[in-house]
Amino acid sequence: MSEIDVGRRGFIQSAAWMGVALMAGECLGGRLKVAAPSGAPMQGCALKPMKKVRVACIGVGSRGTSALRRLSQVPGTVVTAVADLFQDRIDKELAWLKKNGKPAPVLTVAGPEGYKRICESDAVDVVYNVTPWHMHAPIALYAMEHGKVALNEVPGALTIDECWQLVETSERTRMPCMMLENCCYGEEEMLMLNMVKQGVFGDIVHGEAGYIHDQRALQYGSRYHSLAGDPDAGKAGRPGWALDFYSKHSGNWYPTHGLGPVATYMDINRGDNFDFLVSLDSKQANYHHYGREMYADWRKDFKVRMGDMNLSLIKTKLGRSILLEHDVSSPRPYSRLNLISGTKGMAMSYPELKVAFEEKTGDGKAHAYRDAEATEAIRRKYRHPFWQVAGEIAKKAGGHGGMDYIMDLRWSYCLQNGLPLDTDVYDLAAWSAMVELTERSVDSNSRPVDCPDFTRGAWRTAKGFTIDVIDPAKLPEGFQDIKRDKHVDETARQEGLI
Ligand SMILES: NC(=O)c1ccc[n+]([C@@H]2O[C@H](COP(=O)([O-])OP(=O)(O)OC[C@H]3O[C@@H](n4cnc5c(N)ncnc54)[C@H](O)[C@@H]3O)[C@@H](O)[C@H]2O)c1
Repeated sequence: MSEIDVGRRGFIQSAAWMGVALMAGECLGGRLKVAAPSGAPMQGCALKPMKKVRVACIGVGSRGTSALRRLSQVPGTVVTAVADLFQDRIDKELAWLKKNGKPAPVLTVAGPEGYKRICESDAVDVVYNVTPWHMHAPIALYAMEHGKVALNEVPGALTIDECWQLVETSERTRMPCMMLENCCYGEEEMLMLNMVKQGVFGDIVHGEAGYIHDQRALQYGSRYHSLAGDPDAGKAGRPGWALDFYSKHSGNWYPTHGLGPVATYMDINRGDNFDFLVSLDSKQANYHHYGREMYADWRKDFKVRMGDMNLSLIKTKLGRSILLEHDVSSPRPYSRLNLISGTKGMAMSYPELKVAFEEKTGDGKAHAYRDAEATEAIRRKYRHPFWQVAGEIAKKAGGHGGMDYIMDLRWSYCLQNGLPLDTDVYDLAAWSAMVELTERSVDSNSRPVDCPDFTRGAWRTAKGFTIDVIDPAKLPEGFQDIKRDKHVDETARQEGLI
């Protein structure tokens, strides 16, 4: 059906893994909870419990600064290493850690390849990668090769080839590789996940996901350096690194904030899978219009290739549909859409939580959204157990309404207690592959493009998606002792929401 075949590597790799498994003798027992041969699938893979999780923060720009400050407040977690291109950014974080009575990192390295020394260090268990997009896969690959858990900011990789490299390296090294998709941990996303799992919406048929965020001022702002070597980078009106990408590419370059949660509702990689997509871009007007109007010395030869709006339609193997939108330049309110609909009803969370569902088939109760009072009651009834335990603390810690803290608390808790992480390298790959797949479809006049099956068929039997509640008794002291950091609030204000 599709014009473009991107799935063959899966078959070849699948055969390769079976060969390895059949010949297996080699067991990489070291850090694994249950020994498994190199190359085995990573679903459910857990490491032995870590008493203290030692984290390296790579990239302490805007997002990395909040990450470092958040992580240093997660019980049982310590920042032992920091890297950035710029020494002054590292120094600022060292001063913050000192001022806040946190242990000093044992290793800090400035420069583009400093991450290598950090990945090679024995003082690190987890490499927390908050660099610009093009460095996500290279750093994660190097981290896993050196026996580190690799956690990547979004998107986890930029190309399908990078996605496969991450899958293969994670399987070979037995090191978990997860994308830090904080939106999967949002209060309303987890509420909706809980409702989906309890069958409130019936058999799920359709989802809508998006990233609609007016970033014109942000992307022309002064805090981003340029990858294109613009000597005036950093001056207002000059494009930073994301606009460098937008000037060369089409499609959806930030697909996962909306798609991640919808994929968890639909058990993508765990009972269902993406099948194919079609994608189209609108024309580009907003970045040019804004640049011209706002900055006297705006470079008139600067052209953004990516359309203002990218629209994609994804079909899943079980026949479900997903609408995926991306628009980071139109003057309009923020939205991730976050809509799910099934045989009994639907929910969506933008501009606010709205729910409509039947209690008995045909009772007509799904014809109108529940009123404010009923919606509040639904919020209370279906609040995810994790948010019941940790929600108030997370809100105090800050970070997009607390979801960033919930995410960090959860993966660190999993590592401290020898549990598999909630999402794995296959989720990272399937969600991030949308970057290249949407661009391929846009550039071929919206022809259908096959989505690779990074699980090589294991999606058929893998257990459905859940986020389990944590037991605070299984964390070291300090769970209640959270301080809010000014930078986290400041970033949230600058960024609108995310
Ligand atoms: N999940 C979210 O809600 C969220 C929000 C904002 C940004 N992000 C993601 O975080 C990442 C960083 O975004 P940002 O806004 O902080 O960008 P930024 O430019 O402010 O920060 C990136 C930092 O990485 C450093 N860096 C670049 N190359 C490096 C290298 N080779 N080694 C070490 N450090 C290096 C830069 O010097 C800079 O300080 C991006 O992937 C972005 O998509 C995620």
